[in-house]
Amino acid sequence: MKLQDKVAIVTGARQGIGESAALALAKEGAAVVMVSRSISPDSPVVAKVKELGARYLAMSVDISDREQVQKMVDETLAAFGRVDILFNNAGISKPAMLWKMTPEQWDEVIKINLTGTFYCMQAVAKPMMEQKTGSIINVTSSAGLLGTIGQVNYTAAKGGVYALTKSAAKELARYNIRVNNIAPMAETEMTKKISSDPKFSAKYLERIPLGRFAQPEEIGPMIVFLASDESAYITGQTICIDGGMVML
Ligand SMILES: NC(=O)c1ccc[n+]([C@@H]2O[C@H](COP(=O)([O-])OP(=O)(O)OC[C@H]3O[C@@H](n4cnc5c(N)ncnc54)[C@H](OP(=O)(O)O)[C@@H]3O)[C@@H](O)[C@H]2O)c1
Repeated sequence: MKLQDKVAIVTGARQGIGESAALALAKEGAAVVMVSRSISPDSPVVAKVKELGARYLAMSVDISDREQVQKMVDETLAAFGRVDILFNNAGISKPAMLWKMTPEQWDEVIKINLTGTFYCMQAVAKPMMEQKTGSIINVTSSAGLLGTIGQVNYTAAKGGVYALTKSAAKELARYNIRVNNIAPMAETEMTKKISSDPKFSAKYLERIPLGRFAQPEEIGPMIVFLASDESAYITGQTICIDGGMVML
């Protein structure tokens, strides 16, 4: 197993890409701390991780609240004594055209997708610096890399995550902490509006050379790779798992 004795925090683990990552990490032997605002011991992802025989915690955490984020890391350290991997995945979208976007829509998306990502990185950085090892995997998006229509809040946040990752990678490299981004495209609750509307979906698929949306399970293996020593010489990168939509 590639992640035996490693401890991973997965934000946004209740569903979608976060759920797939939690399962993939657990299958490779990691202890998994699953967090989201509404995750509970009854959440399907928790039952699945338990069934795999992995050590785990499930915690209700809003990543846009700095105190809750600190508690998440403190409880992880109390339970498992270390934190090796952060999959900084939780995110939301609140679409609206620029001229219709309310300050609340702008603030909420920036607060969760950008500030929340920062809070989680900051909270794990200290224990990882003491351990002199760690892997942080952030989540940007084709929207943040290329721009899109109807989501200036989301693109600003994800563009910020793209840049934040590179600066953090430079700052933390001296502690043997790697920081990378993924830019995924998968059929989840977040993308349901696109994938379930035949017209919208056909238009979107024209931009994806491989001609289909991924299932969330197709993202998990890249999280395992970036979390493991197999990627020991990779930092500051953005890996697009999107059927070729973005070619950097
Ligand atoms: N799906 C795609 O094609 C795609 C493309 C590009 C980027 N992404 C990014 O990939 C990540 C995962 O997306 P997804 O498609 O899996 O979305 P999803 O199915 O909507 O899942 C989002 C997860 O984030 C959690 N979450 C939301 N706000 C949170 C908060 N404040 N604190 C803690 N947890 C929170 C949600 O759980 P609760 O509601 O319980 O909090 C949920 O578990 C996001 O960052 C998204 O922007 C996705």
